[in-house]
Amino acid sequence: MSAERIASGDGVVFKDVCKIYPDGTRAVDMLNLDIRRGELVSLIGPSGCGKTTTLKMINRLEEPTSGSIVVGGEDVRSSDAVALRRRIGYVVQEIALFPHLTVAENINVVPALLGWSEAKMRSRADELLEMAGLAPERYRYRLPDQLSGGQKQRIGVLRALAADPQVILMDEPFGALDPISRETLQNELVSLQKNLRKTIVFVTHDMDEAIRISDRIAILRNGRVEQIGTPEEVQTAPKNDFIRNFIGEDRLSQMSPDDPVGVLLEEPWARALPSESAAAVLERMEENDREFIHVVDSKSGVWLGAALLGRVRRAAVAGKGVVESLSRDRKLYLEDAVLRDVAQMLADRDISIPILDADDRLLGVVTSAGLARLAMNRLRGKRPSSAGGEKKEGSR
Ligand SMILES: Nc1ncnc2c1ncn2[C@@H]1O[C@H](COP(=O)(O)OP(=O)(O)OP(=O)(O)O)[C@@H](O)[C@H]1O
Ligand SMILES: [Mg+2]
Repeated sequence: MSAERIASGDGVVFKDVCKIYPDGTRAVDMLNLDIRRGELVSLIGPSGCGKTTTLKMINRLEEPTSGSIVVGGEDVRSSDAVALRRRIGYVVQEIALFPHLTVAENINVVPALLGWSEAKMRSRADELLEMAGLAPERYRYRLPDQLSGGQKQRIGVLRALAADPQVILMDEPFGALDPISRETLQNELVSLQKNLRKTIVFVTHDMDEAIRISDRIAILRNGRVEQIGTPEEVQTAPKNDFIRNFIGEDRLSQMSPDDPVGVLLEEPWARALPSESAAAVLERMEENDREFIHVVDSKSGVWLGAALLGRVRRAAVAGKGVVESLSRDRKLYLEDAVLRDVAQMLADRDISIPILDADDRLLGVVTSAGLARLAMNRLRGKRPSSAGGEKKEGSR
């Protein structure tokens, strides 16, 4: 989904939010999250990590213990809770449709509270049923008992949309459905959202679902956001082992040699300044047993070149600066480098490769150890063999 159409500032913003239940359970712990207007963000994480609590604080079904939550530019604490709930759609797993109300009446629960006219409610229900592919004349007078599980959930989603709220909260809305109905409703949600551009906070347990429907995925752990990013970002650059395990090795294994190298970026072991003498740099390299150092302008971050041990030694003997020892031919640009390039260069010569942005700034380095770790992660189901002892490479 396109980022340009997403305005920022008036979505849903959590700042340092904590929720401690009366029994002392710390369900949400310094949570920060900035959901932009028109964006669909999934909250995912282990059971008990605080997803539902986070969601319920948005429409004040739960009150935060501290911190602030701003919806559409307004702090929820300064909004009337009942009015707030009417302007925020809410869908839960076991849709509690009113059993004695027809489909149309169920859809119009909030409009009725808002005092819409009969005619307006009727045309709204028909319009929404149409949108969900349910022929109004067949479904508008049915009772919930006369619907399948998938149809009930659809009506639940329509009910949340009825009064045209900007923000919609969904707590595992498709969790109880069979896999086929679930996938159908996910696809329907994606196509609805293309036109509606609601701000949707969607709680799920299911990573496939999150990947399929989200603009961004927030992975929660112990009541805070461990990582947030587009589905692409969290899959290609999981921040740590927790995220990696959570995403699942099988998804991570879907990588090709044509994938970008961003996932492999690491900090170089050190950076040298162009103003340093070769002697000073040589001393550092020898102390750290390194064959290689990157020289970077401290102000601009521009990569000036790599200094190799032999050349630094010669420059030091001649009393020169480290800049006299630079080579600049071995580098890659983030925007066009792919894993295959890295693998070929490292196979050719096992020293780290600097990765630059379009303005020649050093973003990080790629090492053979990093590439090996990545390969290990991708080799699903295969045990790492104890391949040789730890070898200290000069490259890192
Ligand atoms: N009313 C409550 N009183 C006390 N503790 C609560 C209450 N509601 C939730 N908790 C606790 O707060 C923590 C977070 O609960 P929450 O329901 O937000 O988790 P969740 O991420 O939605 O989990 P799940 O994936 O199982 O739905 C849990 O430890 C839970 O036991
Ligand atoms: Mg929950």
